[in-house]
Amino acid sequence: MDRLLDRIHCADCIEWLGRIDEPFADLVFADPPFNIGYQYDLYQDRVHSDAYVAWTREWMAQCIRVLKPHGSFYIAIGDDYAAQVRLIGEELGLTLRNWIIWHYTFGQQTKAKFARAHTHIFYFVHDAKHFTFNDSAVRVPSDRQLIYNDRRADGRGKLPDDVWNQYPRVCGTFKERCGWHPCQMPEILLARIISVSTKPEDIVLDPFVGSGTTAVTAKKLGRRFVGLDISETYVENARKRVSEVDVETASRTEEDLFDSGLRCQEILELQRLYVEIGINAAAILNHPTLLQLYARQFSIRMNNGKEYQPGDLVACLKELTTWVSKKQKVSSHLQSYSSVRL
Ligand SMILES: C[S@@+](CC[C@H](N)C(=O)[O-])C[C@H]1O[C@@H](n2cnc3c(N)ncnc32)[C@H](O)[C@@H]1O
Repeated sequence: MDRLLDRIHCADCIEWLGRIDEPFADLVFADPPFNIGYQYDLYQDRVHSDAYVAWTREWMAQCIRVLKPHGSFYIAIGDDYAAQVRLIGEELGLTLRNWIIWHYTFGQQTKAKFARAHTHIFYFVHDAKHFTFNDSAVRVPSDRQLIYNDRRADGRGKLPDDVWNQYPRVCGTFKERCGWHPCQMPEILLARIISVSTKPEDIVLDPFVGSGTTAVTAKKLGRRFVGLDISETYVENARKRVSEVDVETASRTEEDLFDSGLRCQEILELQRLYVEIGINAAAILNHPTLLQLYARQFSIRMNNGKEYQPGDLVACLKELTTWVSKKQKVSSHLQSYSSVRL
């Protein structure tokens, strides 16, 4: 198996996984075509719904076959087939832990119905009792800490809820956008999933790797990965994207973050915390108590024995003021910062 790891393979996922005879994946993240007529270079994203559901059952069964007994399985899916995926998961013996809604706005205009602004993400596990869930990796400061200055606040922060509305889709104006794939997922969304459901060196499988987001994120976070896609062009481009990640620094496309002195994993996790907290970098930098709270939450998340100080994060936070596109709204609770207590 080892020779297949940390690579993106050009293959039909059902065939490729069918040739593997032992469970190897600690986490599967799957973002299949939604059967809604998206324009991929090779795959025809509109087939009869019976055929689509039968195909879904097949690839899900193959993923489960290679998922380790304590593994987790996340599936992103649109409205049209969410109900079927949820039922197939149950039929195939998975336990649903969360039905996550990834909510985003991207300015879509509709004429006669409400604009669609979400994707479902099912969080299944193989074994209902035994699985990895690193809660400290995903905790966020609570309103009690950030706004109400409440002494009863849990100093570790709180677990986020199951509606994820902090992660915008990767729009054309984003530096992260690769431009050659129609539905690139944000790295910070994958970072939440990989950080909470795997340990360092664990293996992440993405059977529909597309632009390579899962592989890039796994590499940045020190996890092993296997990515599959049927398109030679996407595979070639995704391999290049992965090769540009330098785990010691940032990816070359984020060269402005090179000088922050932080490692690649730290930069990605700092970006994620920044977006999840939803407070403008300038405001954080101007409020010592808020900056300290930020550094403390970051230390809790990294859980690497290091106690990060505000000074360790300042250079990177300054760069993040430009990293976040103007479309990516970072809301502000500015009025309440003065009352933040540590
Ligand atoms: C929704 S996209 C995945 C996007 C990906 N999450 C990202 O961030 O870039 C689905 C991908 O599945 C690929 N695909 C379609 N059928 C496949 C199959 N049978 N095996 C492997 N890949 C397939 C398509 O080429 C497409 O790139």
